[in-house]
Amino acid sequence: MLVLGIESSCDETGMALYSTSAGGVLLAHALHSQVRMHRAYGGVVPELASRDHIRRLVPLLRQVLVDSGCSLTDIDAVAYTQGPGLAGALLVGAAFAEALATALDRPSVPVHHLEGHLLSPLLSRTPPRFPFVALLVSGGHSQLMRVTGVGAYALMGETLDDAAGEAFDKTAKLLGLGYPGGPALAELAEAGRAERVKLPRPMLTSGDLNFSFSGLKTAVLTKVRELATISEQQRADIARGFQDAIVEVLVSKALRAVAVSGLGQLVVAGGVGANRELRRQLDARAGKAGIAVFYPELEFCTDNGAMIALAGALRLQTGDAAKPAGAFAVRPRWPLDCT
Ligand code: KG4
Ligand code: ZN
Repeated sequence: MLVLGIESSCDETGMALYSTSAGGVLLAHALHSQVRMHRAYGGVVPELASRDHIRRLVPLLRQVLVDSGCSLTDIDAVAYTQGPGLAGALLVGAAFAEALATALDRPSVPVHHLEGHLLSPLLSRTPPRFPFVALLVSGGHSQLMRVTGVGAYALMGETLDDAAGEAFDKTAKLLGLGYPGGPALAELAEAGRAERVKLPRPMLTSGDLNFSFSGLKTAVLTKVRELATISEQQRADIARGFQDAIVEVLVSKALRAVAVSGLGQLVVAGGVGANRELRRQLDARAGKAGIAVFYPELEFCTDNGAMIALAGALRLQTGDAAKPAGAFAVRPRWPLDCT
């Protein structure tokens, strides 16, 4: 079975072809990032994002067909991100996917964006096996989930306010770094010195598996205000202090979740999963605890079409997701544990 996957929930247009033959293989994937377009505005402009998705979908589809050597009529089902995300951006991908599926007389498969992230480590050469605990850290979500199979996700803990990615982005803005803030802040933190700027570890000892990151951003704001002028080294030290704080909390809670679950595997997914310090700390501490940690390939950490094609294919195999192409609705807000 050949599944086309389409991602358009925010600022990247992703397209991929995944075949379920031979144990599952990603035949081609292509991505257009809108980062350059939004940079001038300091963040994602939803209207511009939607219009750009319209421009990119057909060329990206052509590209994956050429790269895979497949033709349109080889496609057996069209999977697309139904939510959560920006309503207009989702509508562009959904309308395109439903129109294509209708024209081809194939089923469509609406996919939960976070389910795509959650399953993305299965695209790796050494994938995890169900069941596992997942730390989902994207721009809009920070969640710990117990994953027992495709579609079986139980929420163990989540952020009570800002998501980890959101905290990275907002703190980057405070430090005068451009959009996208997370990677820029992470890069600056590499030049920062440890322990120079000590920031709180929110909810580290709360005894549950929830997070809270908005106070960290306020702590950074207070530090910046305390300094009349701020040198490049001080900015880097603050970035380092922020990253160390957020990473310590994420690592501690994720490992605690694995301990509570009684499972031995942790999957890290979502854009913040690309953070090198998070990976370093997790690998070090999980190794000592005998926990195996799985990450998606770096290119599949942030938004992409491959994870949507994969999630669509796995959902098709469980038999509960395909629908006749045609009428559709997007779900800009959509919790993962009630799919
Ligand atoms: O999963 P994703 O691509 O999109 C959403 O579904 O939200 O995640 C984007 C988030 C942004 O907040 C971005 O700043 C953050 O992931 N991010 C990072 C890094 N790369 C992306 N945060 C910290 N360090 C990184 N290297
Ligand atoms: Zn995402």
